[in-house]
Amino acid sequence: MEKKPVGVEIFDRIAHRYDSISRFLSLGIIPKWQRELVKGLEKPGKVLDLACGTGDAGALLLNKAESVVGLDYSLPMLKVAKEKYPEMLFVRGDALNTPFPDKTFDTVIVSLGLRHFENPEKGLSEIRRVLKSGGEARILEVSIPKNPALKFLFLQFLKRIMLPLGKLRSKADVTKHLYETIVNFPHYEELLNLARTVGFKGGSYKPLMFGMATIYTLKG
Ligand SMILES: C[S@@+](CC[C@H](N)C(=O)[O-])C[C@H]1O[C@@H](n2cnc3c(N)ncnc32)[C@H](O)[C@@H]1O
Repeated sequence: MEKKPVGVEIFDRIAHRYDSISRFLSLGIIPKWQRELVKGLEKPGKVLDLACGTGDAGALLLNKAESVVGLDYSLPMLKVAKEKYPEMLFVRGDALNTPFPDKTFDTVIVSLGLRHFENPEKGLSEIRRVLKSGGEARILEVSIPKNPALKFLFLQFLKRIMLPLGKLRSKADVTKHLYETIVNFPHYEELLNLARTVGFKGGSYKPLMFGMATIYTLKG
């Protein structure tokens, strides 16, 4: 396999503690966001959970989907995922260059993964490639509230609370990476524009918790 993507090394290191770190840093809110991500997907067909990590988002669809495949580059994350969800299929691979043929999946979900890719546009393009025509991609990402006062408060929270708290539970570079990926991500309309550029037919987004996270729905 080619050089390890930048956004993977950290997860290799923290895999066995990832679930507790992410619960701690998000004050326990992530499972609620993941349930929101898959809400309304009654017949999701063949599902790809891209950058599946420890598998929680994809696992929410196990009872409804024809099949659920989780892909991640981090073997330690996949090991934890397989222990948690032995019935789910996991594949190790790069989200920017997956081993799946064109138009394989009816639904692709990405829970808190896209902003870790070296190139989110390439990630979107790969999602588009493996999605069937008429299929749906759902992307959950941390975002920055649009409201100027909330934006200020959220950025202060990230800098003054999340960064120092994170340092207590993990290495400083982990929270620094988390912070930088949130700040540098193409949020809202910017992401929808990128999606259109790579061939999605349409898209919309739904802010959660005043825009601290956003779910993007893209039509293949
Ligand atoms: C924040 S975790 C999210 C995991 C899970 N989806 C969740 O909701 O908890 C980000 C994941 O993206 C994976 N990742 C980052 N870049 C990747 C890439 N290029 N290809 C595959 N996985 C990647 C990491 O290994 C990590 O497991």
